[in-house]
Parts: sequence; structure tokens; C-alpha cells
Amino acid sequence: MTPPDPDPELTYARYLRLGQLLALQRPLSEPEEHDELLFIVIHQVYELWFKLLLHELDKIGRDFAANDLFGAIATFKRARTIMKTLVGQLDILETMTPMSFAGFRSRLDTASGFQSVQFREVEFVLGLKRAELLRTFEPHTPGCADLARRLHEPSLIDRFYDFLGHRGVAVPAELRARDVTLPASPSPAIQEGLYALYREQPEVAILLELMTDFDEGLQEWRYRHVKLTERTIGNKPGSGGSSGVEFLKRTLFKPLFADLWAIRHRF
Ligand code: HEM
Repeated sequence: MTPPDPDPELTYARYLRLGQLLALQRPLSEPEEHDELLFIVIHQVYELWFKLLLHELDKIGRDFAANDLFGAIATFKRARTIMKTLVGQLDILETMTPMSFAGFRSRLDTASGFQSVQFREVEFVLGLKRAELLRTFEPHTPGCADLARRLHEPSLIDRFYDFLGHRGVAVPAELRARDVTLPASPSPAIQEGLYALYREQPEVAILLELMTDFDEGLQEWRYRHVKLTERTIGNKPGSGGSSGVEFLKRTLFKPLFADLWAIRHRF
């Protein structure tokens, strides 16, 4: 028998590890409920997009720190487009009826998107820091250490303050020295600086509009997720133990970059 080739030619399937990837969708319902494969695939795809989004947001943080405006513009454009895709994908899941979901929902036990570590990482990177959420994860959940690290790291908002400083905005000392484990609060001084940048540095305004698009995109996702939940489970409690739709509604209309929204009436 010839031994296996230790260094086989790279193919599409080997490069993408399709053997492993396509073995990861394992419906639990018996007999198998047709829509369970959709449910698994769509959540796995979300997790892959979250992974890429984190990669891109980390780069934007470095661009901000280095005053690389065009790097930040290019990458925010990508992040914004990923966010729009995240919203659009919910259409596919909305082709699943409440009846079909009820056919396998009990198999989910307490599993819920609420337990997505990467979604929390995205929130933390963007400055939506809620330390208490760390306690909702089992200590050895994959990614938990990354989430804890991100809690203590400056968020994109802190890097944005650095960038604004490079662009001539007088960033208040208390913002520079703020506790980065807490969410950032709106700041009149930052709003003044942003207003001036819109008027005096049009190339920076392009970035600020992309950030606004991204922010609106996340708010859109939250709204569409609430409606998806409402049409699929009505007023039933969530599998993660919350009240369901009422719980999710509390997350609506909360901006990431509040200072960008606070000045729009002034133009
Ligand atoms: C039939 C489809 C879905 C239903 C019925 C549903 C339902 C829910 C409910 C009720 C919650 C609140 C926590 C709980 O008690 O479980 C929740 C949270 C969450 N779900 Fe979904 N969900 C669905 C699809 C998705 C998809 C496709 C994603 C994509 C990753 C997702 C991501 C999340 C996230 C990230 C949270 C936490 C939100 C937050 O705390 O702000 N869900 N979901």
C-alpha cells in the first residue's frame, strides 16, 4: 500500500477545509424537521460573519490610532456592507413558519443567540460594554477569554477619540482617561468637534457618514430580529430564559455613536 502523500496538492476543498465545514450541520430533530438545517446553517453563517466583522473592526481601531483616514474609510465601508448583509439574511429565516420552528424548538433546550460570545465581542469592541454579560457564559465557553480581554481593552470609540485628536478636535482629558470597561457617554465637546469636521474636512465627513450607516445597520438588525422573533414565537418566552420579544424590544433605538446622531439637526 502506498503511504498517503504528506503534502498533497492544494485544492479548493482542502484550502477551505470543506470536509470539516460541511460535516458541522447536524440537525437534532427525529424525524428530521425540514427547516432545522436552515436554522443551523444561518446561525453558523452569522458566526462566520461575526468573526470577519471582529477582524475588520480591530483593523479600524488600528487605523484610528494611526490617523489612517483612508484605511478606516475602506474598512468601515466593508463593515457597513457586512452589517447590511446580516440584516438581509433574516429574510431567509423568515420563510420558516411558526409551526415548522415549533417542530424542533424543544431540541434547542436553553440554547439561544443570547449566548453568542462573538456577538458580545462585537458589542464590546464597539463600546457597548456590559461587564455583567461576562457572567452569563460558562467559564470555559470558547471565546470567553477573548471577551474578557476585550472588556479591558479600549473600544473603537476610544480609538475614535484618538483619531479625532489627530484631526484637531480638543478631546477632553476626562474622555482620554475614562474607564474603558464602561460604555462611553455622549459628550458636547466631541459633538462640537464633529460639527467642525463635517464643515471643514469633507474627507472626514465621508468616514462619519459610513459610521452612521453602520450604526443604523446594527439598529436595523435588532429591529428585524425582534420582528423575526415575534412572527416565529409570538409572546412565548425565549429559549435563553428571557421574556422574549419584550426583552429584545429594550435593546431598540440605542445608537453606538451617540455623538454622531446628536448633531444632525444643526446643519
Ligand atoms: C427563529 C429564529 C429566532 C428566534 C425565535 C430568536 C429568538 C430570540 C430570543 C427570544 C432572544 C432573547 C434571549 C432568549 O431568551 O433566548 C434572542 C436573543 C438573541 N438572538 Fe435570536 N432568535 C432567532 C434567530 C437568531 C439569529 C439568526 C441570530 C443570529 C446570530 C440571533 C441572534 C441573537 C442574539 C445575538 C441575541 C442576543 C440579543 C441581545 O441580548 O441584545 N437570533 N433571540
